[in-house]
Amino acid sequence: MATIVQRNPGPEAVLAARKPGVIPGPGGRTILSSLPPLSLYVHVPWCLRKCPYCDFNSHELKGELPERDYLEALQADLEQALPLVWGRQVISIFIGGGTPSLLSAAGLDRMLAMFRACLNVLPDAEITMEANPGAAEAGRFRDYAASGVNRMSLGIQSFDDRALKALGRIHDARQARAAIEMAQRAVPRVNLDLMFALPGQTLEECERDLRQAMAFGTEHLSLYHLTLEPNTVFAKYPPALPDDDTGAAMQELIADAAAAQGWERYEISAYAKPGGRCRHNVNYWEFGDYLGVGPGAHGKLSFHDRIVRQAKLKNPASWMEKALRRDGSHLAEDRPVQWKELGFEFMLNALRLKEGVERGSFVERTGQSLFAIAPAIERATAKGLLDPDPARLRATPLGWAFLNDLLAEFLD
Ligand SMILES: C[S@@+](CC[C@H](N)C(=O)[O-])C[C@H]1O[C@@H](n2cnc3c(N)ncnc32)[C@H](O)[C@@H]1O
Ligand code: SF4
Repeated sequence: MATIVQRNPGPEAVLAARKPGVIPGPGGRTILSSLPPLSLYVHVPWCLRKCPYCDFNSHELKGELPERDYLEALQADLEQALPLVWGRQVISIFIGGGTPSLLSAAGLDRMLAMFRACLNVLPDAEITMEANPGAAEAGRFRDYAASGVNRMSLGIQSFDDRALKALGRIHDARQARAAIEMAQRAVPRVNLDLMFALPGQTLEECERDLRQAMAFGTEHLSLYHLTLEPNTVFAKYPPALPDDDTGAAMQELIADAAAAQGWERYEISAYAKPGGRCRHNVNYWEFGDYLGVGPGAHGKLSFHDRIVRQAKLKNPASWMEKALRRDGSHLAEDRPVQWKELGFEFMLNALRLKEGVERGSFVERTGQSLFAIAPAIERATAKGLLDPDPARLRATPLGWAFLNDLLAEFLD
């Protein structure tokens, strides 16, 4: 994760950091011949209750959702970022959280109208919204779709009431099923998020969850190994979790059972039916660009002479207050990615994809020659972690199973 080098820079500092030539490419020349596709990420930071395993920038809602103030600040945040993306087309929008399904239908409609007014959003852009089954309502889902949402991603986690309780979820399995049906009636494309290696979970229970999820006939599943994240309730009071061998067996079982039903595991945690891949996330993994708006949102933006990383202040109240000042003080980070970081950052994303990426896209997206990572490629190939395919950068099955070991080769 990138370090924060500028906290609350003033407008001069922001402009100075945007001056050309800050990445020392060879001879200081322009490094990118074309810009990658651009996506938009929007962060909605509130949840009805904080889940004990979650380290996302999500905050328990105290009282009413401050929707008006949030949307006003979002507009100010977006407008300050517009000079960074003038004229570029937006291929996808992802409204994530937190729990975006806490937004009213009118609020969501205002948000999407704002994006269309300010940005060149492609008519067929993928517009995903995350929803929690504990904050789901059929009429509202239909209204979201009428405003332009064409994909919903539901945080299901499990269909087992005991597991849901252990995870501190605000919904039970019946509500999860009802929310899936509501989403399927409202939008053409649905993703279900599930976690495995849950407290006390057996291999059989894991398989039962997977089979129930697949039976809904959605086009996409995200299956995450539950991890104990620092600064969460679970990190402080760890529940009894399946051991590493059982976790690995669950991962294997999931991959095999999903493949047998026609699901392609196209990324470490993502499974899709043909045509069902998440375009927004694929753009991240292919080292595309994304503008992030909302508290804690991250962005990566390419220019012909540099690649910039941005992050907004995480605290919702501070972000709202500072965004409205329109002086760049809502930025927690705004810095060019250094020349020597680019190779690792590219591989960190690209190798998550089962098919990897074309070797030429390394040159196109980083502005560097493949010679920059040639020693790492050689080492990783010799260890059997990287596919020797001359056309692609792709992990071998071994490299995919031990991705951290593979990535470590690209660290220096
Ligand atoms: C932002 S949340 C999704 C939407 C909504 N907030 C919800 O939970 O219903 C993204 C997903 O990340 C996964 N996730 C969150 N914390 C995790 C953890 N510690 N380990 C593994 N997966 C996690 C969950 O599957 C969750 O649905
Ligand atoms: S509902 Fe989702 S974002 Fe909110 S605390 Fe739970 S896992 Fe995190």
